[in-house]
Amino acid sequence: MFTKKQIDHFESLETPFYFYDLELLKNTLQQIKKAAPSNYHIHYALKANAHPTLLEIIRNAGLGADCVSGNEVKRAIECNFKNTDIAFAGVGKSDKEINFALDHSIFCFNVESIHELKVIDQLAKNRSTKANIALRINPNVDAHTHKYITTGLEENKFGINPYEFDSVLEVLKTLENLNFTGLHFHIGSQIQDLNPFKNLCSRANEINKWFIQKGYLLPHINLGGGLGIDYQQPEKQAIANFEDYFGIFKQFLELHPSQQIHFELGRSVIAPCGSLISRVLYIKNGINTNFAILDAGMTELIRPALYQAYHKIENISQLTSPNTTKYDVVGPICESSDCFGKAVEMPVTERGNLIAIRSAGAYGEVMSNHYNLRDQVQSVFM
Ligand code: LLP
Repeated sequence: MFTKKQIDHFESLETPFYFYDLELLKNTLQQIKKAAPSNYHIHYALKANAHPTLLEIIRNAGLGADCVSGNEVKRAIECNFKNTDIAFAGVGKSDKEINFALDHSIFCFNVESIHELKVIDQLAKNRSTKANIALRINPNVDAHTHKYITTGLEENKFGINPYEFDSVLEVLKTLENLNFTGLHFHIGSQIQDLNPFKNLCSRANEINKWFIQKGYLLPHINLGGGLGIDYQQPEKQAIANFEDYFGIFKQFLELHPSQQIHFELGRSVIAPCGSLISRVLYIKNGINTNFAILDAGMTELIRPALYQAYHKIENISQLTSPNTTKYDVVGPICESSDCFGKAVEMPVTERGNLIAIRSAGAYGEVMSNHYNLRDQVQSVFM
C-alpha cells in the first residue's frame, strides 16, 4: 500500500523506475534478527539486489554477504561488508574472480566440483595463501518450486553429489592450500511450503554425520537461502515468516554444538520492499482483450516472461475508481512474452496512469537489461 505522499512524489517523476520502501526493509531486517538464534549467521544474497543504498542498510543490520561473482565480492567490499563475512558461491568461478577473492581473504569459497577445488588450490598456492572452502553439496532434495530455480536435484548442475564424497576427501588430502571449513547447501528459490527445508535438514544431518565419522568436524554448515514470499497478497504478509522458517531448522537440524549455522537469504529480505512503477502509454481495445501498454517492459522486469512469475499489478492513479475492467498489461518490447499479467482486473485505466508492479525488489532491477537499447532503469528510495 502506497501513501498519498509517495504517490504524489511518483507523479512528479519520469517513469519507469524502481521504488524501494526503506522502512519495510528495516522492519524486515529487525524481524530476521529477532527470529534467528545467536549461532545463526545470515548472509544477504547480493544477486537479489546489489544496490549500494540497500546494501548499506543490510550491512548495518549485521548481515554478511553471499556473492556469486567477482563483481559482487567487489561490491560487498566497497559497501563495507567485512571480508570475513563474505561467502563466494557459483558453479563457474573464473580465475580472475577467484584471485580477486583470494586477495581479499574472504570468509569462504563454496566449491561446486573436484575440478574447482584443484584450481582454487593452485591459485592460492601461486599467491602463497590458503583459501577457506566449503563443499557445496547437491543433496537431491526437491524444492517444489519453478524448475528454473530448482537447484538441489541430482539433474541440476550445482554442487557435489554424495557418490563423489570419498574421492573429494582423497583429493582434499593432497591440496595443501585449502582449509576445509564447511558444508554448503542451497536447494532452490521461492520455496513457500516449508517441507523441503525439513527434508534438507534430514539430508544435511546425515551428510554432516558422515563427514564427522570420517574425522571432519567442520566449523560451519550453510543451508543457503530460498524462503519464498507471498506475491499474491503483498499487503497481507509484507514480511516473510522468518520465525517459522528458522523454526524448522531449530527443530530438525542436528549439528554438533560447536558448528555455526549460516544462511543466504535474498528474495525474502528484499523482494517485498521494491515495486516497479511505470506509466500507461496507450490503451488498445481488442475484440476479446483490452491491452494496457506500459512504458516498462521485460527489459525492466523479466520475471513474468522468464518464469511465468506472478506480480500483483495495481493502477495507483485510480485507487478509488469504482468501475473496473480487465486488461492484459504489457510492455513496449517487440516480443509477445513481454506481458506482466493477463486479464488483470483494474479500474478503467487511462494514458498517464501510474501502474505499480509489486514485490519486485528481488531479481528485478538486477536482471534488467538494455535489449532494444532501452535506458537504464532508475531507482527511487523513500
Ligand atoms: N544461495 C545460493 C547458492 C543461490 O543460488 C541463491 C539464489 C540464494 C542463495 C538466494 O536465494 P533466495 O533466498 O533469494 O531464494 N532469478 C530468480 C531467482 C534465482 C535464484 C538464484 N539463486 C527469480 O527471479 O525468481
